[in-house]
Formats: sequence, structure tokens, C-alpha cells
Amino acid sequence: MTEERLMDKIIEVCKRRGFVNPTAEIYGGAGGFYDYGPLGTLMRQKIIELWRQSFVLDEDRVFEISGATLLPEPVFQASGHLESFEDPLVQCDKCKSMYKADDIIKRSTGETAEGLPLDQLDKMIKDNEIKCPSCKGDLGNTRQFNLMFSTEIGSTGGIKGYLRPETAQNIFVNFKQLAGFMRNKLPFGIAQFGSSFRNEISPRNFLIRGREFEQMEIEMFYDPDKENEHPRWEEVADIDINIVTREMQEKGWEKPLILTAEEAVTKKHVPNQYLAYYLALETEMLLALGVPEDVFWFRHMQDNEAPHYSAGNYDLEANLSIGHMEIVGNALRTDYDLQKHAKASKSSFEIMVGDKKVTPHVCEPSLGVGRIFYLVLESCYRDDDRGWTWFQFPPAVAPLEVAVFPLMKKDGLAEFAYDVHTELKEAGYLSFYDESGKIGKRYARADEVGIPFCVTIDYDSLKDYTVTIRDRDTMEQVKLPLEDLEVALGELMEGDSEFQEFLEFDD
Ligand code: GLY
Repeated sequence: MTEERLMDKIIEVCKRRGFVNPTAEIYGGAGGFYDYGPLGTLMRQKIIELWRQSFVLDEDRVFEISGATLLPEPVFQASGHLESFEDPLVQCDKCKSMYKADDIIKRSTGETAEGLPLDQLDKMIKDNEIKCPSCKGDLGNTRQFNLMFSTEIGSTGGIKGYLRPETAQNIFVNFKQLAGFMRNKLPFGIAQFGSSFRNEISPRNFLIRGREFEQMEIEMFYDPDKENEHPRWEEVADIDINIVTREMQEKGWEKPLILTAEEAVTKKHVPNQYLAYYLALETEMLLALGVPEDVFWFRHMQDNEAPHYSAGNYDLEANLSIGHMEIVGNALRTDYDLQKHAKASKSSFEIMVGDKKVTPHVCEPSLGVGRIFYLVLESCYRDDDRGWTWFQFPPAVAPLEVAVFPLMKKDGLAEFAYDVHTELKEAGYLSFYDESGKIGKRYARADEVGIPFCVTIDYDSLKDYTVTIRDRDTMEQVKLPLEDLEVALGELMEGDSEFQEFLEFDD
């Protein structure tokens, strides 16, 4: 299988089986917009809930807000997005196609050109005789293109507004109220989940770079003099994280450095406990989602790659079939945003810490829902000798958790099976009932969308109240009393008992 085709295969399953579809496809679509279908919505919801549980609800001093997606111009004037949130655009003189200049250089030469000034990009295009990929025409000069979608607010069009390019700004502009809610005591975190918008020059790679995308962000506010006094540090200090330092990037690297969070901070590979705390949480979250530990790492970005507000980014990158891709941004935003908004709005965002006034510093884990969604799809996709493709989703992210089948529709089996399905739903399982087609086909259909367990009702079920559970990963089947089904499924979903051990369950 060529690498490019893996993404195409996944896109094909996503469209056919109700995970994700291009927006308005019947009208030719709109590049970079996607709709989640029935199964995609269930799975996306599980990803969001996992984040919410471990990054927000498990914490005492992190609360979530939900802000407007359209914000007035002064917000982005102050934040620096109007001036700096741009990509280098180059246009073909002949067919007028537009490209992101550093992308087109990377594709042609393999060289990274991100963050280089326009004259250097133009020189690289000229020196390497790079032409338009569509028509081979000459490319014009590179210019900066602001990535924000603009609009006018109100019928008289008096105020200019922009769809937010990150959820973070709602949090900074509400800082005074939020700090008050947190009783003006540091540290505290404000989380937000929601859509952001970027008018990407060339949206590409399915959910990896879209024009509308969902973020799960936290702005964690702390006293910079106490950057190594995270209140829950002991809980993550021993967690292994994969790091790629700047030095490794200069020398060329094959494998990331594996350090505990504690070692990463002590050896100064990560600047402080607040940031390292989130690198540990993200590691745990991806492992829970079925992403193997050797597939991702945190890379200390070079200065010219980091966003305008960042004093250092430690982005989570993954080794996907389409190359190394950024999945999560982790930025040390310092007091950049609060200072900018304080100045522009003539407010003070200082907090008293003892007898000292502090403008809090911020570290920001910014997780992309769509990117994580795709990473999970690729990590769990299986194309072995089964005769059909399947997803090995862990139950924590599987859109459906159990499928219930009657062996045949007749002789009361369908009614029996439907009752079992209803009871499983009432018990809280995401259960799916299917009575159409041969049983083997139904197993294959369930595997194709990654349902971890199937329960089959056969003629024995009518006689002795037993059911058969089939394990997706091993395709093994085991009979057990119906009355044990709910508990058994619970244990299997938790991963507490292997299926083999579970065979002894009904002894
Ligand atoms: N808030 C960081 C980002 O959107 O990239």
C-alpha cells in the first residue's frame, strides 16, 4: 500500500460508513470544510469528553467557558493577529492557482522554508525553478495573506469583525471577570471547546488542515515566579514523554528522547512544570485513544516556526502516512496577550500575589479535535487477511460499543435480540441492532466501523438464556448466561480482563 493511499482509503470508509463527509459535496464542496456523520459525531463526542474529563473536570481550578465565534476587530488588533497571522501566498501567473509558498518549496525540494522572509522564499522558488504544480506556469512574487475570515457586523456595516482564528482570545478578553470568578488567586485555568476558522491558502490532508476546525484549549494562568510549583506535579512527574529537542533537530534525529516529565523539566528540555504537566496529560490521552507511544513526540519548534505570541512551542507531532504532522500546539504565551489587551483596552490585568502585583503568565495546550480524530483513525486502521478492513478502536473512543444480532429474523430470535439491545442501551452502552443479511456479513460490517463486541442470539438463547459474545480483535466467540452479559461487557470495555481470562468467567 502506498502511503498516500492510506489516507484515501480512510476517507473512503469515512464517507461510506457515516464518519465524515465533505461539506456541501453535492455542489462540489467547499475546500477545507467537513461534516461529521452519525458515527463520526459519536466518536468526536467521545474525544471531546475524554479531554473534558482529564483536562477540566478532574481539576479543581480549571473551568470551561463557551464564547462567541465572531469577535470585533479591536480584539485582533490588540492580539497581533491582524498584523501577524498570515501565510506567504504565491500565485501562478498563468492559471491563477494559489499556493502557500513554503508548502510548494517543501514539496519540490524537501527543504523547510516555514517562517522565512518573502525575499528568501522568492529566491528559493527562482533558484530551484519551481513552477505551478497544476499548469507548469511561472509563479509570481510571494506576498503575505492574512488567514482570518472577515465580515461586517450589523445592517449598517459599521463594525468590522472576524471569525476567531483560535478560541483563546475569548478567554483573554474576559480575563477580568474570569479572574474575579477564580477569586483573583493564581494558578487557575480557563478551558474552551469550539470552532475556529482560518482561510487556509491550500487546505489539505482531510481533517488535518481545514478552514473550520474545532479546538480544545486551556489558558493556564500562573505566577512566573512559581513556574515550578504546579499543584498536581507529583501526579505526572513519573510519566514518560517523548521529546525532540532543538539540538536533536540540528544534528538530525531518528528517535525521540524518552524522559519522565520530572527529568524533562530538570534537564531544561521543557521550560517549566506547567507546560510539562500538559505534555504528560496529552501523552496519557493519546494512549487511551489507541495511538501507539512510538508514533508521537513533542518537538521544540524553532523560533521562526512558533506563532507570534509564543516564547516557545512544544508541539505534539505524529508520524502519519502523509508525513510528520502537528496534532497539538503547546505554547508558552507568557504575559503577551494580557499585556497587549491591557494596553489596548486601558485595563489592568494584574493580580496580587502576597504584596506583589503580577500579570499572570500563560501556558496553553491547544488540541485539535479533527487532527486527533484523524490520528485515531490512522492508528486504528487494519487491513490484514480478514477479507475486510476494520478499525481497532479502544472502547473509549469506539463510536458504537456493542452490536446485537439475532442469528435469524424468525422464530422469536429477532424479538429476543431486540430486547437484549434495549437493555444494553438502558444500561448505558452505545448498542447497535442489526438483523439484515448473513451473520458473517454483519460481523464484517461491525468490524469495519470498529465495534469492539458483537452479541449474537441463537436457538440456544431461547432454550437456556445464553448469548454469544464475539471479540472484534481476536474474532473469538464465547457463550455466557444472558444475566452476566452487562457485567461481562463492562469488564471487557474497561480492559480489566482479557478475553481469554473472560472465557473462565462463566465457569
Ligand atoms: N491557540 C493556539 C492556536 O490556535 O494555534
